[in-house]
Amino acid sequence: MELIALALGLIVVAMLVLQVPVLVYGTLQRSRAAQVQRRLDYKEWKLRLQAAEAQLEKAASNQLSWSGWRKFEVRKKIVENKAGDICSFYFYPHDRKKLPAFNPGQFLMFRVDIPDPDNPGESFEETRCYSLSDSPNPRYYRISVRRVPGPRDQPDIPPGLVSGYLHEHINEGDLIDVQAPSGEFFLDPDQETPVALLAGGVGVTPILSMCNTLIDRKSSREVWIYFGVRNPDDLVMLQNFEYAAGHLKNAKVFICFSGEMPDGIEDGTVADSGIIYKRGRVDCAMLKATMPGNNYAYYICGPEVMMKTLDKDLQAWGVSKDKINWEAFGESAAPAPASIPAGQALSINYGASGKSVDWKGEKSIRAAAKANRFKEKKIKYACGQGKCGCCHTALKSGEVAYLDVQPAFPGLQEGYCLPCIATPKTSIELDA
Ligand SMILES: Cc1cc2nc3c(=O)[nH]c(=O)nc-3n(C[C@H](O)[C@H](O)[C@H](O)COP(=O)(O)OP(=O)(O)OC[C@H]3O[C@@H](n4cnc5c(N)ncnc54)[C@H](O)[C@@H]3O)c2cc1C
Ligand code: FES
Repeated sequence: MELIALALGLIVVAMLVLQVPVLVYGTLQRSRAAQVQRRLDYKEWKLRLQAAEAQLEKAASNQLSWSGWRKFEVRKKIVENKAGDICSFYFYPHDRKKLPAFNPGQFLMFRVDIPDPDNPGESFEETRCYSLSDSPNPRYYRISVRRVPGPRDQPDIPPGLVSGYLHEHINEGDLIDVQAPSGEFFLDPDQETPVALLAGGVGVTPILSMCNTLIDRKSSREVWIYFGVRNPDDLVMLQNFEYAAGHLKNAKVFICFSGEMPDGIEDGTVADSGIIYKRGRVDCAMLKATMPGNNYAYYICGPEVMMKTLDKDLQAWGVSKDKINWEAFGESAAPAPASIPAGQALSINYGASGKSVDWKGEKSIRAAAKANRFKEKKIKYACGQGKCGCCHTALKSGEVAYLDVQPAFPGLQEGYCLPCIATPKTSIELDA
């Protein structure tokens, strides 16, 4: 009997002893789970706090914005490439007040008075858009401008008016009129979505702004950066890309040469900075050969042919259209010439200036004026894409059509048109 009691006692003790590790294990597990939960709660709270701080910063920054023109002083002007045709300008507000933040990828509109060679002592006003090429900061804005040459096959046509004027005549200490940052092509730095930033030539400007913003934020976002140039003379801001390769935790940076490569560098060379050098264009074949897949949001800025090809090929690769974002630098990306209705001779009368031309299927009413070498003092122009409203002109008679590019300018009024993207549907008379 005693033995049975002893055995039972031992069994109970053994069971109790066996339960101890189970209890300890359970308690540890619960405490670990509570710890994980606390960490998650803290992370969520931190994210909410950061989002709230970002909202507050945005609201405060929006208050710093301005409407119309504001004077800025050029404090620094730097030639950026060996070819000498890309120059950066650093603009500080003349009123010395703080600047509003902007979204990386946005642009500024500039107004300059250009001396009129035909009327000495007189000048005419021109407006153009230039992308911000650095990350937001409250002190200055930076743009980087390529001096646009005349068409190679038409030596009698003058080179780009405003880019040439900025390169030759705007220097440190000069004042210039600037509108507040705007534009719909931008990267949201608060998101974590993996991105591919693709730049060609001077189209690198908005991409640099995106890249530098991610660096400033110490982003750990997955980023694939491709910068395409023809040869080493065209390369700009290499140090910036080297810095990105070294400081963005989760980024791969490629510099691609469609022509000659720098001395001592071959296709596939990985520099000490982490930059990967490639031979070839920034196209879908390059992306397929280097990226692990296609599931990215794409931001593209470069020559028209690069963007159109990438847009088409990325979609063919299975990337949905809403993930492909691109910015065109002006008229060249406007629709292809429309066909002229058979048997119809449409004329464009530029009203006040008394000029009239037959429309020959040019890309737009403004392109027709340009082809006819009108000075277009009255048809102002900046974006060339129906976005900014700069060319908003009254239509005295006739009808216009918008073909591939639809007006995005919200202020387009009844009885007006946007000559940078409109084509005549009937003969028209403009108040220009
Ligand atoms: C949103 C946006 C952002 C931009 N960002 C940048 C940027 O960051 N950096 C940058 O460098 N550019 C940028 N641009 C382009 C810039 O706005 C200008 O379009 C560019 O500098 C050319 O302007 P321009 O006055 O020098 O040339 P224009 O005088 O407008 O001439 C353009 C071209 O037309 C040719 N031309 C002139 N007259 C005729 C004619 N009668 N017939 C045929 N051809 C003719 C010229 O030779 C020249 O090749 C951007 C554009 C947009 C819309
Ligand atoms: S120039 Fe910008 S809308 Fe026409």
